[in-house]
Amino acid sequence: MPEPSEILSLAKRRGFLWPAYEIYGGVAGLFDYGPLGAEMKRNIEDYWRQLYVRQEGFLEITCPLLAPKEVFEASGHLKEFTDLVVQCDACSTSFRADHLAEGLHEQPSRLSKDELCMLLNDNNVVCPECGGHLCEPATFNLMFKTAIGAGAGGRDGYMRPETAQGMFVNFNMIYRYAREKLPVGAVQIGSSMRNEISPRQGVIRLREFNMMEAELFVHPDDKSWPNFANVKDEKLKLLPDGGKDTVTVALEKAVGDGMILNETLAYFMWLTWKFLSDLGVDPDRMRFRQHARTEMAHYASDCWDCEALLGYGWVELVGVADRGCYDVSAHLDHSGADLTAFERFDSPKMLTVDRIQPDLSKLGPIFKGKARAVADKLAEVPPDSVPDDRSEIELEVDGERLKVPSECFRKVRREEKVSGRKFVPHVIEPSYGLDRILYALLDHAYGSKEDYVRLRLSGKASPVKLGVFPLVGKDGLDTLALEIHRRISSLGVACYYDDSGSIGRRYARMDEIGTPFCVTLDYDTLKDDTVTLRDRDTAEQIRVKIDRLPEIALKIQENIAFEDLRRHS
Ligand code: ATP
Ligand code: GLY
Repeated sequence: MPEPSEILSLAKRRGFLWPAYEIYGGVAGLFDYGPLGAEMKRNIEDYWRQLYVRQEGFLEITCPLLAPKEVFEASGHLKEFTDLVVQCDACSTSFRADHLAEGLHEQPSRLSKDELCMLLNDNNVVCPECGGHLCEPATFNLMFKTAIGAGAGGRDGYMRPETAQGMFVNFNMIYRYAREKLPVGAVQIGSSMRNEISPRQGVIRLREFNMMEAELFVHPDDKSWPNFANVKDEKLKLLPDGGKDTVTVALEKAVGDGMILNETLAYFMWLTWKFLSDLGVDPDRMRFRQHARTEMAHYASDCWDCEALLGYGWVELVGVADRGCYDVSAHLDHSGADLTAFERFDSPKMLTVDRIQPDLSKLGPIFKGKARAVADKLAEVPPDSVPDDRSEIELEVDGERLKVPSECFRKVRREEKVSGRKFVPHVIEPSYGLDRILYALLDHAYGSKEDYVRLRLSGKASPVKLGVFPLVGKDGLDTLALEIHRRISSLGVACYYDDSGSIGRRYARMDEIGTPFCVTLDYDTLKDDTVTLRDRDTAEQIRVKIDRLPEIALKIQENIAFEDLRRHS
């Protein structure tokens, strides 16, 4: 297995990843993508879009990185999105308490603050930097705080720690756009920020990182998935909570046995497996690990991490969680906006229903001419979102936010003939960490042969798909090679023209950045319109007609194997 330092050194030298702001000493947890890294990142995003947006029909939206405090008050991040930090009394370095407990407990991240404190004390853990005394663990919120606007008129704001909230707060817009049908999924690709206490391990723990998140809004009583039948026999490697070894189980059995909570969760775990393995994460070094109850995020009811075995050990690349109704309920509750879906019954039913009953005699004196509009809005509030001890409801009426005191309404229960009901949707969320995926692809592709590195990147992931070389830069070979380069580039396929140095050296340069195939034009090319096509992994060569190159270039993006090209040559 390659050392992470070898991978990061190659990544830096060849323009995949650069430590950010290096001329000023760099900042831990911040990285730049160089030209090849940016290209590869885009390939990952594009394939993800192909699966989620084109194939599964999710709706892509883009929301701001900056959000007002209220969003994270509602989501629970202000209270819950914390790590335990321990500081050294002598050198002031900060550490994550669970990182200090690694090796002292099987899964320190599952321990409570008191348990961690006891474990560190009992084992006399001292500062790893200077041997100094460590203070007690303290709770540290990982969000970056800022101000939106200047001075006293400004609002408290936070940089989003996940893209997910942008989709939850927009549920009403998304639902309406989808013509009020469930399931409906939204996706967002973008950066998120977390003030990680001790960023380390290259791009595994960044302070600003890239996420690709999907939020699928479903009916709480229907977590089946239409395409599930097509993949039910596919197998996944699972490490269930409490299990010691991974088990390979077919999706249908995993759901049937209650190992995975529902079909939809299982389907998106499978899609994640397919996505990662198609891109080039080695399935033999991949698994899904189920979160323990104590480890699960504050919102989740079942959660599986797709992990890859890297030079750093097992690392989470993707989390797939059933978030229940937590998020949408929280925003409905805090904002008062109607974030419900509607279910129409086949025929009207007599049901016992809760209603918010406005009291106009109380509303009148307070809201005057707006009393009727406030009453109408109150009647629309989903009663489930109003706890019995609620002292007021916040509403938006004609663009104005109003607080309606509890004496102005009553929650009543009565028998009614109803045509349907409102409900809060549940959410299934696959959340992908793009930077970790890109690093995993480099790690699993890395191999050194002879005296140089060869990256066995897949055609889908590789930043350059095809190298184009004239044997010599004269006699018309160079102009023809440039013409081929132009034709292939115009198809949107990344190819690289190189006429400098020996052919061997040019192949080595392409192998080192993972280019799957190279073509070389020689003097025979001028006679019979053929070129040599060389395979990166075996160094074998075949001759192909120039006319086939555009089609071949497009197929490289689909992971075509050399064997298939040979068969058709
Ligand atoms: P970890 O336990 O490793 O800190 P997490 O459980 O906090 O990760 P999630 O909150 O589930 O991670 O985030 C979803 C995905 O985002 C992760 O699977 C991971 O790939 C990525 N991710 C999370 N935090 C970071 C980070 N600091 N740097 C890079 N990627 C990250
Ligand atoms: N949206 C999943 C997470 O950031 O934890």
